[in-house]
Amino acid sequence: CGIVGYIGHRDAWPIVLKGLKRLEYRGYDSAGISLISENRLSIYKKVGKVQELENFSEGRNLSGTIGMGHTRWATHGIPSDRNSHPHTSNDGRLTIIHNGIIENYAILKEELVSRGHVFNSDTDTEVLIHLIGEIYKKENVDLLEAVRLSLHQVSGAYAIVIMDEDQPEQLIAARKGSPLVIGVGAGEYFIASDATPIIEYTKNVIYLNDNEIALVKREELVIKRLDNVVQTPYIQELELKLEMLEKGGYEHFMLKEIFEQTRSIRDCLRGRIYPNEGRVQLGGIKEYADKLKNIDRIIIVACGTSWHAGLVGEYLIEEYARIPVEVEYASEFRYRNPIITEKDVVIAISQSGETADTMAAIQMAKERGATIFGVCNVVGASIPRLTHAGVYTHAGPEIGVASTKAFTAQVTVLTLMAFYMAQQKGTLTQAKLVELLTELDHIPEKIEKALESNALILDIAHKFKDSRNCLFLGRGSGFPVALEGALKLKEISYIHAEGYPAAEMKHGPIALIDEEMPVVVIATRNSSYEKVISNIQEVKARKGVVLAIVTEGDTEVRGMVDYCIEIPDASEAFLPLLATIPLQLLAYHIALLRGCNVDQPRNLAKSVTVE
Ligand code: G6P
Repeated sequence: CGIVGYIGHRDAWPIVLKGLKRLEYRGYDSAGISLISENRLSIYKKVGKVQELENFSEGRNLSGTIGMGHTRWATHGIPSDRNSHPHTSNDGRLTIIHNGIIENYAILKEELVSRGHVFNSDTDTEVLIHLIGEIYKKENVDLLEAVRLSLHQVSGAYAIVIMDEDQPEQLIAARKGSPLVIGVGAGEYFIASDATPIIEYTKNVIYLNDNEIALVKREELVIKRLDNVVQTPYIQELELKLEMLEKGGYEHFMLKEIFEQTRSIRDCLRGRIYPNEGRVQLGGIKEYADKLKNIDRIIIVACGTSWHAGLVGEYLIEEYARIPVEVEYASEFRYRNPIITEKDVVIAISQSGETADTMAAIQMAKERGATIFGVCNVVGASIPRLTHAGVYTHAGPEIGVASTKAFTAQVTVLTLMAFYMAQQKGTLTQAKLVELLTELDHIPEKIEKALESNALILDIAHKFKDSRNCLFLGRGSGFPVALEGALKLKEISYIHAEGYPAAEMKHGPIALIDEEMPVVVIATRNSSYEKVISNIQEVKARKGVVLAIVTEGDTEVRGMVDYCIEIPDASEAFLPLLATIPLQLLAYHIALLRGCNVDQPRNLAKSVTVE
C-alpha cells in the first residue's frame, strides 16, 4: 500500500493526489484521502484506481493545507469503498491511514466492541484508530502520547499517519516494519511510504526508524521513540531524479524499463570491474573479503522474481567460487527452524528492500549469528539498513509491477559477487577472470542487440496471445530464466504459465502438450545444447508449438521449431542476462494484445510489506 501526507501552506489535495498516483504501483485496489478545510474533516474514498477517486471528488470543495491519502492492496477485507483508508475513530474526529498488519486486531476489536465501539469496515486499521481514540479521550493526554501508548498494545507491522479534526496544525506518523519517509520543506512537511511523491518538492528527507513516532507541524518536527526518548532527526539528501519516475516517451513503464537495461547494467557494473587487471571491486562487502575465503555455505533468501535471480546466483557462485549455495523462499525459510551458524553468509535479494517475508528471514538469520549481505535496488530502504553489508543494484526506480531491469541488475550483482568470491578464494585464474570480465564489460551492447528483436517478438506474440497455457523450459542457468519467463507471462497476461527444467518435463508436464500448447525453450548454444535439442524433439513429437531462444546464427534448432528468437552469443555465465530479454518482451506484447494493464496487473503490488 502507499501513504502520502502533507502539511504546509499549499493546498494539500493536489499534492496528496499526485503522490498517490506516484505510489500507485504499491497497490491499486482502492484509494482515499482525508482533508481538513475550514476546521472540518472530509474523507473521500473509492474502490479502484486513484483516477476513480479523482473523478468521484470532482466539483467538491477540496481546499485545505493539511491532508493525507492512501492507495490500498487489500489484506483484511475485500476492496470496497468502506474498507478503503482513511478510517476514523469512534467519534469520527481522528482519521488514520495505515500500511502493514495489526496482528492482534481480533482481540482488540472484541474488547472495543464490548465497550460500545461500532465499526464501519472489516479492516485491522479501523481497530487501531478506535483504540487510539479511546485512549486519547480516557487518559487525558495529548494525541502524540495517546498514539504512543496505543502502539504499546499493538503487535504487527505498521506505517501510520493520523490527523485530528480538532488540531489542523499537526500530523502524527509512526513506523514499525513498514517504511515511512518525511520530506522537509520550508514551512511544510511531506510524509510518504517512499520518496517518489516527495522528490518534486524537496530533496531533503528523514527516514523514520522502526519504533519511532513523529509529531509533524508546519514549523516543527519532533521525533520520539516508543519508549519516549526524543531523537535527533537525521536529514539525508535524495539521489532520485524526477525524470526517473516518468515514462519518458514510452507507452508503459514496463517497456521503458525493459529498454533501459542496456543502461542499468552499465550503471551496475560502473566502478566495480577492472577487466584488464582481472579484478572485481565491491566496496559494499569489502570488509568481509577475508571471511569469504573460508565460508562453508551461502544461503540466498528472496521472494518472487528476486528468488529467480537467487537461483541464477546459486549456479554462478557454485560454478565459479565453488561455495555450496542454498536458495530459499524467504517465507518458507523463516518458519522452518533452519540450521544457521555464525559461519554462514546469507544473501538477501530484494528490489524494493521492503518485502516483509525477506525482512523476517534476515532478522532470524541475524539472531542466529549469520553474516547478512543485501542485494537491493532502493537505496536506504529497510533491508539495506538491516543487513551487515551489501551491494546495490543501481537499476534506478522500477515502477512497472512486473520486475524487469531490477532482475537483470540483481543477476549482474550476483555475477559480480560470484567473481569476487572466486577472486578471494583463488578458484579462478587471473587469465580466466580477465576473459570473463572483458566479456561482462560488453554485455550491455549485447543486450542492446537482443532488444532489436522487439518487432519480431510482437509478431510472435500475435500467434500466442490466445493461448490458455504456456510452458517454459530451460536447463542449467537457463532453468531460472524459464521460471522468470513464465512468471512474467502469468503476472501480466493472466495466461497460465509454468517454468520447468527441460529434462524434468517428461515426468509430468509432457502430459499437457498438444497442438494448442506453446512451449518456449531456452536453447542457446552452451553445455546443455544437445540435451535441450532432445527435449525439443520430445515436444515436437507430440505436436507442441515451439518457440526457441537460440544463439545468433543457429540453423540447427531453427530447422526443427516453429518460431525462433536469436540472442547474441555469450559464455554460459552471461546467458541469463541475455535470454531473459526476449521473454520480458514476449510477456509484454502478449499482455498488451490481450488488453491487460501491463504496469498494474490485477491483484499484484510492487512492494509486499505484509507477510
Ligand atoms: C512482489 C512483486 C514482485 C517481486 C516480489 C519480491 O510480489 O510484485 O515483482 O519480485 O514482490 O519483491 P522484492 O522487492 O523483495 O524483490
